[in-house]
Amino acid sequence: MNNEAKKTVFSGVQPTGKITLGNYLGAIKNWGPLQDECNCIYCVVDLRSITVAQVPADLRKNTMELLALYIACGIDPQKSTLFIQSHVPQHAELAWALDTISYIGELNRMTQFKEKSRKHAENINMGLMNYPVLMASDILLYQTDLVPVGKDQIQHLELARNLAERFNSRYSPTFVVPEGLVYKQGSSIKSLQDPTSKMSKSDPNDNAIITLSDDADTIRRKFRRAVTDSDTCVRFGEDKPAISNLLTIYSLTSGESIADAEQRFAGKGYGVFKEAVAEAVIATVEPIQQEQQRLLKDKAYLESVLKQGADTAERIASKTLAKVYRKIGFIPRVR
Ligand code: AMP
Ligand code: TRP
Repeated sequence: MNNEAKKTVFSGVQPTGKITLGNYLGAIKNWGPLQDECNCIYCVVDLRSITVAQVPADLRKNTMELLALYIACGIDPQKSTLFIQSHVPQHAELAWALDTISYIGELNRMTQFKEKSRKHAENINMGLMNYPVLMASDILLYQTDLVPVGKDQIQHLELARNLAERFNSRYSPTFVVPEGLVYKQGSSIKSLQDPTSKMSKSDPNDNAIITLSDDADTIRRKFRRAVTDSDTCVRFGEDKPAISNLLTIYSLTSGESIADAEQRFAGKGYGVFKEAVAEAVIATVEPIQQEQQRLLKDKAYLESVLKQGADTAERIASKTLAKVYRKIGFIPRVR
């Protein structure tokens, strides 16, 4: 397929420390397989991360670790564009223009904003509220067709679509209106301690989340401690949120279907099942961890990926931004 006919894919994760199994199964794992059919652009969204206070040294470390993780998870810098959000200034610039067509009411209603405001009551800053507009800017700058994300981002994606349509109708067609790509399985991995809430990076209970940097023993221990449902049957169902979550994790990491897994563990009890889930997760994350560590030692390579990625991203982004500024009525800079 020539590049013109290919769809454009854009997605990103924040470099805020612990990357969870939810981030992996709900998002990053799905990115690599899109590389051959689509023009893929994957971003480390560092501008977003400072909406919650960060320690500068940690932010630097987490950013490079996340970049290495993307590559270790099968994203090939020869096929996809990989870059850091703050390297392409057009993200913040388009966000400003989009801010002026976003309503306080629609941002105030966002579930993630309300949740984060509750969690960080001492720091409900403008960036936190404004953030979905920045995310819309990320997506719209690249004329993105598809956005592979977990379920929790659907509301933000809806805003990006609304802003694209609003701008297009106020001026003239400028932005592609993006579609979400939310996979049936894995788009909402739950906490191991409370299967009614999502597995979240910021969970204060370390036993509730599996991170991609956990070692094998930690993973075994966390699954052993995972809460289960009242009966002892390994079965998928709405009435069994804890076991359904574990079955989803098992299926996505082992490659076995949920139906086959139900049969395999019929009558075996939760102990045996949880052990198998842990081993499947370990077998998935260990090679990723090794590759990530190898990449992190090769700073020159990672920097070359970043340079190339930012150059490619900026070329596309500056074209879109120039178009937007022209339509708004700004005078182009004389060069
Ligand atoms: P974030 O951690 O907020 O930067 O999320 C990055 C990506 O991971 C987004 O596409 C989220 O939808 C996805 N994600 C985060 N948590 C989960 C989860 N528990 N299950 C599935 N996907 C998730
Ligand atoms: N908002 C996402 C999150 O917090 C991360 C993100 C930022 C993103 N920009 C994006 C995801 C653009 C998809 C497309 O999880």
